[in-house]
Amino acid sequence: MTRTALTADDLAAGAPVHSPAASGEWWRDAVIYQVYPRSFADGNGDGIGDLPGVTARLDHLKGLGVDAVWLSPFYRSPQKDAGYDVADYRDIDPLFGTLADFDEMLEGAHERDLKIIVDLVPNHSSDQHVWFQEALAAAPGSAARDRYMFRDGRGPAGDEPPNNWQSIFGGPAWTRLAPGDDPSTGSGQRPSTGSGRGGDKGPQWYLHMFDSSQPDLNWDNPEVRAEFEAVLRFWLDRGVDGFRVDVAHGMVKAPGLPDWSGEVSMVEGTVDEPTTDPGAPEDGSTGAGNSGPMFDQDGVHEIYRSWHSVLAEYPGDRCLVAEAWVEPLSRLARYVRPDEMHQAFNFSFLTAPWDAARLRTVVGVSLDTMDAVGAPTTWVLSNHDVVRHASRFGLAEIGGRQLNGIAATDPQPDAALGLRRARAATLMMLGLPGSAYVYQGEELGLPDHTALPAEVRQDPSFFRTDGAEPGRDGCRVPLPWVGGAPGNGFGPTDKTWLPQPDAYADLAADRQYGVAGSTYEMYRTALELRRAEKIGTGGLAWVDALAGSPDVVAFQVAGVVVLANLGGAPVVLPDDVDVLVASGELVDGALPTDTTVWLRA
Ligand code: NOJ
Ligand code: CA
Repeated sequence: MTRTALTADDLAAGAPVHSPAASGEWWRDAVIYQVYPRSFADGNGDGIGDLPGVTARLDHLKGLGVDAVWLSPFYRSPQKDAGYDVADYRDIDPLFGTLADFDEMLEGAHERDLKIIVDLVPNHSSDQHVWFQEALAAAPGSAARDRYMFRDGRGPAGDEPPNNWQSIFGGPAWTRLAPGDDPSTGSGQRPSTGSGRGGDKGPQWYLHMFDSSQPDLNWDNPEVRAEFEAVLRFWLDRGVDGFRVDVAHGMVKAPGLPDWSGEVSMVEGTVDEPTTDPGAPEDGSTGAGNSGPMFDQDGVHEIYRSWHSVLAEYPGDRCLVAEAWVEPLSRLARYVRPDEMHQAFNFSFLTAPWDAARLRTVVGVSLDTMDAVGAPTTWVLSNHDVVRHASRFGLAEIGGRQLNGIAATDPQPDAALGLRRARAATLMMLGLPGSAYVYQGEELGLPDHTALPAEVRQDPSFFRTDGAEPGRDGCRVPLPWVGGAPGNGFGPTDKTWLPQPDAYADLAADRQYGVAGSTYEMYRTALELRRAEKIGTGGLAWVDALAGSPDVVAFQVAGVVVLANLGGAPVVLPDDVDVLVASGELVDGALPTDTTVWLRA
């Protein structure tokens, strides 16, 4: 391995490929911190995080230097999918507190100049939602059934599912009502419903792209549309600054619900291996797109246009963020056209391999495609659905399954390598213009729990695949606030709804505050510089001399050069270079492998 020595000329930026942001809405360059309420901080000691816990830790977020907080669902829910199964969209689940606790949290955030984004789950409700209960009690063809996706089964007796779709969590996407649940079949005699159903098809089936406790809503039904506009207004009136929209690419299904034999999973297929193969997709795709007749149908866009208008009626710049697993990026950009949503998560970036050429491609295409519609690009490396990047980057191979969860029987990540690369990836991400998402705990360098015993697992995808998928619990482990305290200070007792791995004690927040070189201090410094240097709204130019390098990603944003070394040999920096922040220590003026640095341009 040969050391590369750079001169000052080597670091010169080429022509800009992305212009500075033209308008100043806060979300264009915001760093948004994802709180997963059940695992952030426990206020009452029951082992489950809650809203008072969030309020009590707002100073951590302010101190870190983020601009906004997105909270995963806290609504009334039987918690079959950790709250992504909503029984009442207008109330707080008692597990998390009350509406008064929510108001207090919102006020505390606003006092600190932090925006609050809440999660909206419109693709499906819980089966405990009053609408689904009404649908069960009503007859086929009724208005109550029409709010969901009920269908007769196939075959003479209707005992085959209406089509062959598979649930994203495994198993069939259709569940048949038990005869006792279906009033139309209780007597064995099918009453005439006027719905044109021929013969006795027996109990109906309902569609659920996720767990059977999460029936899909029918977005062709105007009542469903009106209800969600009312739900938006409920939270806008309370003062929220935006919504993260769950499964934003899934609400409208292709007419006739045609069979589909392609792969369906949270993250489709297998994420590509690192490669500098010139045949790697030039459109930036990395395998993060769901496809099929249940995803990315053109009809979804009309819904977002109407929601855009609802938000526009409110003062301030409220925003909609799409959770849409859609590729290529040019399809994703359709969700953030000027009259639709404001941001979309960039899952092509999240799933990109640790490979210089692949990262340059995805960054470049992301900026181009979002610029074309006037939307900011977002950047994200971790969330509550994927293996944390500190663990992901410690795996020899990043396959699709391992992106969702790691089991004790799987090859285990190399923790030191994972953390080193995670810090380098983060520093690259925070140096990019646009909006960035930080998942709770990544600022501490937390890994997943990669050896959770089956008895404690809760993710429905674990159960629906008979354990073949470990599920997403490993990235949802309660945060360590005070190293060595009971539950590492997650709450006032030693209870944590999932066990924490041993490594969490040393990574606890209190062991990192003010400690030079800690992951927390790296994030804090980078966020402070990002704000001061106006990186989020800056233009971007590639560093020309390194634009074809198989080892180095280098670009200039505003007045800062970001240089990441993904190669096997150190890169010697020019003399007298002004280092602003680094993801690891420089060695004799050289940037070691798997390290990123910000330099004064
Ligand atoms: C995406 C959410 O992020 C995930 O956690 C959830 O299980 C599914 N949507 C279903 O709501
Ligand atoms: Ca609690």
